[in-house]
Amino acid sequence: MLSIGTIIAISLGFGVCWCCDNDVQRFAHPSKHEDGSVRFLVVGDWGRGGAYNQSQVAFQMGKAADKLEIDFVVSTGDNFYDDGLTSHHDPAFQQSFTNIYTAKSLQTQWYTVLGNHDYRGDAMAQLSPFLREVDSRWLCLRSFIVHSELVEIFFVDTTPFVQEYFTEPEGHTYDWRGINPPKSYISNLLKDLEQALSISTAKWKIVVGHHAISSVGHHGDTPELRKQLLPLLQANDVDFYMNGHDHCLEHISDTESPIQFLTSGAGSKAWRGDVKETHKRGVNFFYDGQGFMSVKLTQTDADIEFYDVYGKILHRFTSSKDLYSSM
Ligand SMILES: *[C@@H]1O[C@H](CO)[C@@H](O)[C@H](O)[C@H]1NC(C)=O
Repeated sequence: MLSIGTIIAISLGFGVCWCCDNDVQRFAHPSKHEDGSVRFLVVGDWGRGGAYNQSQVAFQMGKAADKLEIDFVVSTGDNFYDDGLTSHHDPAFQQSFTNIYTAKSLQTQWYTVLGNHDYRGDAMAQLSPFLREVDSRWLCLRSFIVHSELVEIFFVDTTPFVQEYFTEPEGHTYDWRGINPPKSYISNLLKDLEQALSISTAKWKIVVGHHAISSVGHHGDTPELRKQLLPLLQANDVDFYMNGHDHCLEHISDTESPIQFLTSGAGSKAWRGDVKETHKRGVNFFYDGQGFMSVKLTQTDADIEFYDVYGKILHRFTSSKDLYSSM
């Protein structure tokens, strides 16, 4: 589609698409902090018109965003339940997004991927520039890259990886427009991602997808991602993989690399009460309830915090790097 060197200057509120190699769009998002730190919230699996504590989580996100002075918000997908949006005129967009995340501190760019529930509706609607006219915070694309000072965030469309959505759709229909044939869609995506990761000189490399690589929640690991995506992350010094899908909060360390797996899929309905593999190695934190995550990145430290519906910090940790290391 767009060749190397194509410069597009579409202004999207805060992010600006500055260059595209292959088909992966890149956005530059300057930090607003003088110290060059980058700060954001991560939430997933949320759009239920405020129900199931979505509004309570949104309220606490507003408070945390204000305190942290965030630069943007990341959504890990399943943006609208149960079946995505019906079209770009679907009032669910305002009912579950615009009218819920109303705090002043949340009036910033949202970077969003699609979840499997979004694919059960009109998936193209969420990608439509029309929604950005309705609410300029919104940016949802299949796979894209956000570069903000010392971090590159690689957003990956993980739903087409999951074979059971094609083979045993369990009565659901998925909007596979633009995906067929999935095999070449995935191999192109992986090729683009590998190239982008390998040339990245960012201090911190983060990959965001909807489905978990490692989770002890209801759905557990996604075998397709462990097989196809994880090796790329391990080979290219990725620091964090962030996902939703399981409606919980998790921090799990990879047993074969420094990668930390962070689940933030607790934006509304939670409390499934089933935990897989309680003795899985690397599990630092699991919370089967609603909440969200915050991230603060500096040249030397990544501070991660998990919040519950009351705004209480349930778990926090810091990953540190040598100031002079290139990775
Ligand atoms: C809302 O959050 C509270 C506190 O975690 C929890 O006890 C309650 O069950 C939640 N409500 C729903 C509908 O999930």
